[in-house]
Amino acid sequence: MTTADPLVARLAEVVGPTQVLDDPGSCAAFETDWTGRWQGRARAVVRPADTAEVAAVVTACADQGAAIVPQGGNTGLVGGSVPRDGEVVVSLTRLDDLGPVGVDAREVTVGAGATLAAVQEHAAAAGLAYGVDLAARDSATIGGTIATDAGGIRVVRYGATRAQVRRLEVVLADGRIVEGGVGDGGGPSGEPADLGSVIGSEGTLALITSARLRLLQPPRHRAVALLAVSDVAAALRAQEVIVRVAGPLEASELVQAEGLRRVVQGTGQRPPFAVTPPAAVLVEVAGADPVADRLVAAVGAAAEGDPGVLDALVGVDAADRTRLWQLREAHTEALAAAGPVVKLDVVVPLAALAGFVDGLPAIVRGAGGESCEVVVFGHLGVGDLHVNLLGVPTPWVTAVEDAVCAAVVAAGGRPDGEHGVGVQKRAWVPRSRSADEVAAMRATARAFDPAGLLNPGVRLPD
Ligand code: FAD
Ligand code: MLT
Ligand code: ZN
Repeated sequence: MTTADPLVARLAEVVGPTQVLDDPGSCAAFETDWTGRWQGRARAVVRPADTAEVAAVVTACADQGAAIVPQGGNTGLVGGSVPRDGEVVVSLTRLDDLGPVGVDAREVTVGAGATLAAVQEHAAAAGLAYGVDLAARDSATIGGTIATDAGGIRVVRYGATRAQVRRLEVVLADGRIVEGGVGDGGGPSGEPADLGSVIGSEGTLALITSARLRLLQPPRHRAVALLAVSDVAAALRAQEVIVRVAGPLEASELVQAEGLRRVVQGTGQRPPFAVTPPAAVLVEVAGADPVADRLVAAVGAAAEGDPGVLDALVGVDAADRTRLWQLREAHTEALAAAGPVVKLDVVVPLAALAGFVDGLPAIVRGAGGESCEVVVFGHLGVGDLHVNLLGVPTPWVTAVEDAVCAAVVAAGGRPDGEHGVGVQKRAWVPRSRSADEVAAMRATARAFDPAGLLNPGVRLPD
């Protein structure tokens, strides 16, 4: 700590001087997002150790009218986790307690700073599982995943993070600590605080300090298939047949040729197919009894009479399943290695999905991205897709983003999917929601944070 800023000095009294950073070198990692696209200077970075310290930090900031950016693992992809204009960054990663697993109640209470991987391992050690998983699991925190209502690769089976949260403890914008249930999440009925609106609020309503999470009985057997397909329409047909024959899917993920090529190049894996297909769909089935035969039969049924299914691989043992999953999970890193990527996470109704993806190259070209590479991948089962654009000339970024978002809305979808609104999609909130919906969002924000000190510039349009 180097400065004479009185707020920073007070924060140091609360958390200890070593847990307040205000020199550019130490703050840098907290000031730039995962993509490198969003960055700004922080007044200071504060790292409280527990809920009481978070409350004291927030009280000190509220007293001075100082704005706060809550931060977890800083893996968010829409610019909401880093400062924009001299806010205090409150990093919650030290709140990483893992409470005892309630095996009968199938639940666990964990600190907001615990990583997704730590929670998954903790649950697994007690013979249970947590229903959310994503490739950033080693850094993304429980608090961050709740704040964004993260979806991830199991969303088609278990729903997004909201479906896993029973109770929350939060620190409000004035420093008060509140604990409450979420929907019917296990609190006494008539309990005054339902903290459901904090889920997905992207750090704008409260700082999440701990959460009681639902756990589930993990299936004993799994099998994965990667189907090479001619296009997204064929991927959707295959998905439908596989669900009909094999039952509910644990995952159903889409990739395209350009993404597969870059992953193969980046990971050194052998190409999965002799000829790289235009697209591929990865499906996983699981159950208490062996599922491989069921999956093989389902893949056979999907291929029968459908010229759009070009080839298929099935992975049953752990090493084969991991290899197939790597082809999907390594996309984000492989694309980031190729240079600056404009990333748009969008949701489109399944009935409109194939037309939307097929039309994307022309839409991007028409908006100034003539020489762009368009790579789509994501959560096919729920229509939440990641549109990645490489080589967009900087002056055309906004025009290209707007063109893609407009096409999403025209297809009946929403430009903000599982990654949230952040800074990136703020302007699209009123263009994709009714005026009443936006008014309700504003009223909720005013009720939780009347002075507008929590993550200003994120989520809500001006
Ligand atoms: P941060 O990035 O630190 O913050 C994200 C937002 O939450 C910010 O607005 C921040 O202010 C707020 N926030 C963070 N912690 C708190 C807290 N304790 N209280 C209040 N607000 C808080 N996302 C998906 O949904 N699905 C995926 O499949 C997926 N895969 C990814 C794969 C990779 C390789 C990467 C890099 C990212 C991926 N993401 C995915 C995006 C990201 O991991 C998620 O948005 C995740 O939920 C962010 O968690 P975090 O702890 O890193 O939060
Ligand atoms: C994913 O599903 O892998 C992600 O949400 C990350 C991304 O969009 O790159
Ligand atoms: Zn995703």
